[in-house]
Amino acid sequence: MAKVPILEIPDPRLRQKALPVERVDAGIARLMEDMLETMYAAPGVGLAAPQVGVLSRVLVVDVAAGDDSSPAPLRMANPEILWASTERTSYKEGCLSLPEQYAEVTRPCQVRVRYLDQRNAVRVLEADGLLATVLQHEIDHLEGVLFVDHVSKLKRDMILRRLQKTRRVRESA
Ligand code: NI
Repeated sequence: MAKVPILEIPDPRLRQKALPVERVDAGIARLMEDMLETMYAAPGVGLAAPQVGVLSRVLVVDVAAGDDSSPAPLRMANPEILWASTERTSYKEGCLSLPEQYAEVTRPCQVRVRYLDQRNAVRVLEADGLLATVLQHEIDHLEGVLFVDHVSKLKRDMILRRLQKTRRVRESA
């Protein structure tokens, strides 16, 4: 396995639509492992392939990564939201491509997702809570959508300005 660099905004690859994978072969399975290693090291709870410069519909998630519970990695190719609840909830979201920036985002509380696992088997997962939010956030990445697209322009501009400031501080440190 290998850790790979994570792209940050305004890298144009983060704004492109990712293409479906034909099948989960050894190359895609390997990509999933590299992405998991990268995500755990960041640390983060989700990572989508465009964030590592690969425009394929692949993502990894582990909502247990932030706490002390044992790892529960999910590896998905071609994830598709089959159903989303009308009931919505909000979470303070962040993103490894917009380091140290957070905003409340409102999304459906529950989703049903169909995907291919690391062995190319079709699976369906019902998710709620943090997992439902993270899955929607990562699937957005496959469409070139970032969490800041779900907040007001005022809030978005504030986050982008703050990110610039954080980078200047980081560079001068
Ligand atoms: Ni993200």
